[in-house]
Amino acid sequence: MIKYLGSKLRLLPGITDVVARIPNARSAVDLFSGTARVAHALKGRGVRVEANDHNAYARTLAAGLVQADRERWTEEAERWIARLNALPPRAGWFTQAYAEEARFFRPENAARIEAAREEIAAAALDPELEAVLLTSLLLASDRVDSTTGVQMAYLKDWAPRSFRTFTLALPSLHSRPDAGACHAHGMDALQAAAVLSADVGYLDPPYNRHRYRNNYHVWETLVRWDQPETYGTVRKRDDCRGPASPFNRRGEIRGALSTVIDRLDCRALVVSFSDEGFLSRVELEEMLDPRGVVQVLTAAHPRYVGAKIGIHNPRGEKVGTIGRLENVEMLFVVTPEGINLDEVPGFATATASVSN
Ligand SMILES: C[S@@+](CC[C@H](N)C(=O)[O-])C[C@H]1O[C@@H](n2cnc3c(N)ncnc32)[C@H](O)[C@@H]1O
Repeated sequence: MIKYLGSKLRLLPGITDVVARIPNARSAVDLFSGTARVAHALKGRGVRVEANDHNAYARTLAAGLVQADRERWTEEAERWIARLNALPPRAGWFTQAYAEEARFFRPENAARIEAAREEIAAAALDPELEAVLLTSLLLASDRVDSTTGVQMAYLKDWAPRSFRTFTLALPSLHSRPDAGACHAHGMDALQAAAVLSADVGYLDPPYNRHRYRNNYHVWETLVRWDQPETYGTVRKRDDCRGPASPFNRRGEIRGALSTVIDRLDCRALVVSFSDEGFLSRVELEEMLDPRGVVQVLTAAHPRYVGAKIGIHNPRGEKVGTIGRLENVEMLFVVTPEGINLDEVPGFATATASVSN
């Protein structure tokens, strides 16, 4: 499972259970799909999904894991994966940039990644098959990287997993749901909200200033394969200097999310947000209130160990206060009349909106 900031891996059973409880929910839009794991899990439960994310690597994951149907691509993808795994390593610009100048991968693995990527690029494949293979490439590269899960830095000493041999595997694909074909999109959420519609809208926007393109610039380059101009020790793409998404800006997220909520043509909305984000629970409830009955589920998670240890000076004396020990993931469920949300896996019992 690819490492990703704000990924809903732990909350997947609860989120899919909530969607299943919404009456006649046969289709869903996932507007900020990221790793595509929510969209993939919904497809696995027979929901027709439109998955969208503005980053190219995320659109590729959505095309490879959600749009591509198991019955259509399994055999061909398996043949290709065997062929790619048998290629000799090929060290070129990617290996030099990301394994020698920066150290995201061991050079021998970077050269294997590079050989596979070149072969895919040269083959001019059907875009869905290409997305399945690129998804396989991203997942396999993530298994041998040398980071803590973001690409703003690499580890000083090689991560133990970086010594494993890079090997591609077939991603988990689902059959096409009876409700119809799924699709992947690469639009800005504000545009996607105006043109995509479904029974349920799932919104999992960024909730703070951490920009995804910058944190996953190597994935963006691996998918685009465009030999970009780069800068800094970690060789970020030049386009990482571009403007941040309005969802990453404290002063803009409220307006942007309100617009998305107003535009989206869906009977029900499910919205993920953290209590550490730019918007408070009450602000979100007020934004969602015009769309129906708002119910809120919460899941508390322990924070990273540094928060518990506190801040120490070089002599080992405690100098700062201990930070928050947990963060709370909130799931806002908005339906015309409210639904039963008892015993949703991974979440505490739902409470009604507190803003009324
Ligand atoms: C919290 S993550 C989503 C995580 C996802 N639910 C998962 O489980 O992997 C937010 C996503 O929003 C995307 N994003 C940020 N700004 C966007 C915009 N303006 N339009 C579309 N996607 C955007 C980011 O690329 C990122 O993948």
